Amino acid sequence: MTRRLVSALRREPVDRTPVWVMRQAGRYLPEYRELRSRHDFQTAVSTPGIAIEITLQPIRRFDMDGAVIFADIMTPLEAMGVPMTFDPGPRLRPHTVEEVAALGDLDPERVANVAETVAGVRSAVPDHTAVIGFAGAPVTLLAYLLEGGGSRTFMALRSAVYRDPGAVAAALEVLARAMHTYLEVQVAAGADVVQLFDTWSGMLGRTEIADLGLPAARDTLAGIGVPRIYFAPGAPHSLEDQAAIVGAEGYGVDWRVPLDQAWSRLGDVAVQGNLDPGILLTDEDTIRHHVRQVLDRAAGRPGHVFNLGHGIEKETPPEHVAIMVDAIRQGRVAGDDPGGSGQ
Ligand code: CP3
Repeated sequence: MTRRLVSALRREPVDRTPVWVMRQAGRYLPEYRELRSRHDFQTAVSTPGIAIEITLQPIRRFDMDGAVIFADIMTPLEAMGVPMTFDPGPRLRPHTVEEVAALGDLDPERVANVAETVAGVRSAVPDHTAVIGFAGAPVTLLAYLLEGGGSRTFMALRSAVYRDPGAVAAALEVLARAMHTYLEVQVAAGADVVQLFDTWSGMLGRTEIADLGLPAARDTLAGIGVPRIYFAPGAPHSLEDQAAIVGAEGYGVDWRVPLDQAWSRLGDVAVQGNLDPGILLTDEDTIRHHVRQVLDRAAGRPGHVFNLGHGIEKETPPEHVAIMVDAIRQGRVAGDDPGGSGQ
């Protein structure tokens, strides 16, 4: 059978818009919090039995069209010998650009547990569910490596790209090769789709993104044999460049730009998004109204994958996710009140 998510990314017609949610396996789910109370984050990620169970939790609840593997964008860096902790975001020693360039490639053996998780998820999910593998994009990983963790400004990266762009490009190339290997491992284990998360790319200016970040993202994804999604939230200033340089099948868009406007700037590609995660903190009518707005902006064109504009908030009531999924599956119902006031 053809999986809806895969078909949509190929821009083939589908019976209904596929949906999955970034961070769908996570802290808004009581069953996740229960498991995490017994295992720390890194143990949960690195133990296939636990990671498989967490990946399946939102599939059981909502029958999502994609099952995104429970891991972190930093997981392969740990496997490359970079020690870190999570609290809740990653914390590590700040690295120099040269140290990153010296990291070398990823040994697939060191991520054999992630491969086992992918294979276990593929055999456990329904046939119509696509398994989504993922990696962090080179610029985003470099941002964490240079800073030593999260940051409001990521000044270590933002000064490095001007101080020594050649050294930054060399470090990005090393990360691109390692993440390419990591994605290949996941595809070999059964991933049907991959997504490259470039969360912090948008901290940079358009020129630096186009000269440094996007070529590294392109190299990471080159030759990966399943539909590829590139997602750079907070980077509306680079949409045209993303489509021109990265060469993915699909592009994630956040809530900042209306879906139809983002789509016309991206061109002939699949588009994933873009409900504001804040909408899931409101109420049923508001959720249904805004789901309909996103679907209206997609206007039935082949190639739309429904998602949030970024990861789901941990305060989100799970019932609100169920309402969102139901609204997508009902699509546009005749007589539906476009004001969103009625049921
Ligand atoms: O359900 C899924 O989406 C799959 C699992 C997944 C996690 N992290 C689990 C996680 C995925 C795809 C990621 C990607 C990730 N990790 C990104 C890119 C996506 C994005 O949000 O832009 C980034 C930037 C990270 C780095 C990271 N890891 C941060 C900033 C944090 C803390 C903040 C947060 O949102 O929780 C983490 C920890 C983390 N990764 C948690 C989860 C479920 C929370 C861990 C916990 O305390 O239980």
